[in-house]
Amino acid sequence: MKSELLVNINGISSFAGREELTRISDDAAGHLVALREGLGRGSEYTGWLRLPDVTVNETTAVKACAARLRNQAPVTVVVGIGGSYLGARALTEALNDPFAPQEHRLLFAGHTLSEDYHAALLKFLDGTAYNIVVISKSGTTTEPAIAFRILRDHLRNKIGTAATRNHIVAITDASRGALHDLAVKEGYETFVIPDDVGGRYSVLTPVGLLPLALAGYDIDAFAHGMLDMALSVREGNDTTDNIAISYAAARNALYNRGYTTEILISYEPSLVFLAEWWKQLYGESEGKESKGIFPASVTFTTDLHSMGQYIQQGERKLFETVIHVRESHKKLVVPGASDNSDGIGFIAGKRMTEVNHKAEAGTRIAHIDGGVPVILISMERIDEYNLGQLMYFFEIACAISGYVLGVNPFDQPGVESYKMNMFALLGKPGFEAERERLEKKLQANG
Ligand code: PA5
Repeated sequence: MKSELLVNINGISSFAGREELTRISDDAAGHLVALREGLGRGSEYTGWLRLPDVTVNETTAVKACAARLRNQAPVTVVVGIGGSYLGARALTEALNDPFAPQEHRLLFAGHTLSEDYHAALLKFLDGTAYNIVVISKSGTTTEPAIAFRILRDHLRNKIGTAATRNHIVAITDASRGALHDLAVKEGYETFVIPDDVGGRYSVLTPVGLLPLALAGYDIDAFAHGMLDMALSVREGNDTTDNIAISYAAARNALYNRGYTTEILISYEPSLVFLAEWWKQLYGESEGKESKGIFPASVTFTTDLHSMGQYIQQGERKLFETVIHVRESHKKLVVPGASDNSDGIGFIAGKRMTEVNHKAEAGTRIAHIDGGVPVILISMERIDEYNLGQLMYFFEIACAISGYVLGVNPFDQPGVESYKMNMFALLGKPGFEAERERLEKKLQANG
């Protein structure tokens, strides 16, 4: 199956040596084989690799649950953080019409500890019927646990404990964790996050699929997009024709030359959360052992009027990965004006997408000329199928890239440090000595 997604690395040719790129591509091809055969680091978390092959035939239960929840309330609060939040947010933000009234509204909670955010959410929920979908693989993450406790209390006070049960769905581990145990005790409908699929690779499990279905989108098309990309990039080793190898090799070649920050750029504001998802995927997978490209993101042309100056002329450690969207859904032509007093008569009659594409092409050349290597990823349009292709592409390229870098792309040991300190400072039993040490540090630092 040929993918609709194209990757063009011509924009790095004057920054990374051809021989080095070939060497890294060959290395990357070897890592793809290791990934496929379960021989690389962290191979116990590579279940996502073949997830599309089964998921395309297994969406019935998710669709039935979404239909039930949609039927009983116009709003669902999705509670989760990190990999248990960003995929669903990225997809729904990408697909939503920002101005149209939504048939079923998704709201998010537990991705922040902001009291004001959650208080405002509860105030809104006072006036509407709603469901809760709580997502946590470990079932013990503090942020969603707090939000879920607050929301469950709110819902119980609103509709009573017995009715609340039917309004809650839990997505968690098959057999372990506080959320799993609670769901069993309370009798919530549950979905399982497979053991061998880590949070940031879980968008094709119910973690991403249930919110997507709730919002009214075509989860089968999304799964088929993922499958087609899997068949295209997972099975082939040809370094010249495999876009995942190409992207993984290009970014590592640039990293070796001192380009330590990658900026993901899109010209569509609906992709802002896709970039947040991508940042988590690459940041958490590669940033370890004192190594890794720092993933950043901007939205152009908006940020050309803020970050554009730095990118054009600031420190030369940046490279860009631009997501080019070939087709828009709607047509909007710049009208003519008899007096041309705004001076943009030369644009009259052109579609806004054409103008956007010219801005993109012009910026790309200016940035390359200014010393910023550019990788170009071109997708057909923003819909479920093409987002499926894009997300699987990023997942597999990330795994290959992490192996090229020499890290385990499937763990995140560094995420624990802040949690331990937070627990100690909040007085969790067992953390007394640590609390004393931290309090002293805080006092010393003012
Ligand atoms: O990618 C990851 O593993 C993390 O970002 C987790 O998804 C995040 O920490 C939330 O974890 P959990 O789903 O266990 O609540």
